[in-house]
Amino acid sequence: MAHKVVLIPGDGIGPEITEAALDVLAATGVPITWVLEEEAGMRSIEAGGEPLPEKVINSIKTHKVALKGPITTPVGGGFKSVNVSLRQALDLYANVRPSYSLPGIKTAFQHVDMVLFRENTEGLYIGEEKYDAETGVAEAIARVTKKGSERIIRYAFEYAKFNERGKVSLVHKANILKKTSGLFLELGREIAKEYPEIRFEEVIVDNMCMQMVTNPERYDCIVTTNLFGDILSDLAAGLVGGLGIVPGANIGREYAVFESVHGSAPDIAGQNKANPTALIRSAEMMLRHLGEHFAADALRKSLFEIFRRGEFRTADLGGSTPTNEFGKRVAEKVAKNIAKPRWRTQV
Ligand code: NAI
Ligand code: MG
Repeated sequence: MAHKVVLIPGDGIGPEITEAALDVLAATGVPITWVLEEEAGMRSIEAGGEPLPEKVINSIKTHKVALKGPITTPVGGGFKSVNVSLRQALDLYANVRPSYSLPGIKTAFQHVDMVLFRENTEGLYIGEEKYDAETGVAEAIARVTKKGSERIIRYAFEYAKFNERGKVSLVHKANILKKTSGLFLELGREIAKEYPEIRFEEVIVDNMCMQMVTNPERYDCIVTTNLFGDILSDLAAGLVGGLGIVPGANIGREYAVFESVHGSAPDIAGQNKANPTALIRSAEMMLRHLGEHFAADALRKSLFEIFRRGEFRTADLGGSTPTNEFGKRVAEKVAKNIAKPRWRTQV
């Protein structure tokens, strides 16, 4: 039976990279029926609707899984981030963002392998802000709950245990934010005791930024609150080759939405030069979520072969292969690999 998956192409580079990812997914042969939801963000507003129509939320509630392109959020004023709203509406509490060195991609460090777990529904991103023009004071509330913290910390530990990873680093700022970051840290210390086989360490966020750019190879699983996770995951992407290649998953108890770490990249939108790798790799995470491990492995190996050979590269990685052509090359490789019986038995 075909999987039913909601497809949100998004805006900016979204539609271009989505097309490339669809080519690659088609080549895996996994039967997927797409439920297209084009209207979210500016595209929806231009059509006279809400930034995040109920229809899109309900569609994901019905089909449980979505693949999503980036959606632009206006800076300063304008509507609330559709991405943040979607994560809150569907209670997608775990934002899982793996960053590891890829074959053939030269960066300052060659053995980076970290998975960042970002709390995705609370913290400073709850959208409770106000400005009093008379006093000239702007305020934002950071809400950290016991329930919200426990589930993301536990998720990180469970992931580490299941995937035989050795360490969880909890990133905080409890020296200054004694209540909010303090609660998160306190719960981390408690939960860590339940996993004696996994090393637990605490790192203050400013130090973490310095550690990650000087010594990233010592990190494994990283768990942190919403804002810190947002910032550190872009930093982690920069360590392994940039935003064009790093995937992500928003996971809740009932629903899952797969999307890149990067945004809509307005500076290169419409030019057929964005790197679709991040979304292709998000699609790989989606295949695993759907239980399609063989197709996911084939996709990963094919992509890595292409990187190793270095023949086809998009502009962000120093090449000149257009987005659509890159997608087609990866798709060809996937189709070829998946048809090889000898290759099928590789582990
Ligand atoms: P961005 O991630 O869109 O772009 C940052 C830089 O990375 C730009 O120079 C861009 O060209 C480059 N880049 C990003 N993705 C790339 C790709 N696939 N291939 C090649 N280069 C790539 O961040 P920015 O510019 O701060 O945000 C743009 C918009 O995206 C904003 O409105 C922001 O709110 C939104 N955004 C949406 C997200 C989502 O939908 N989940 C996540 C992050 C930002
Ligand atoms: Mg971000």
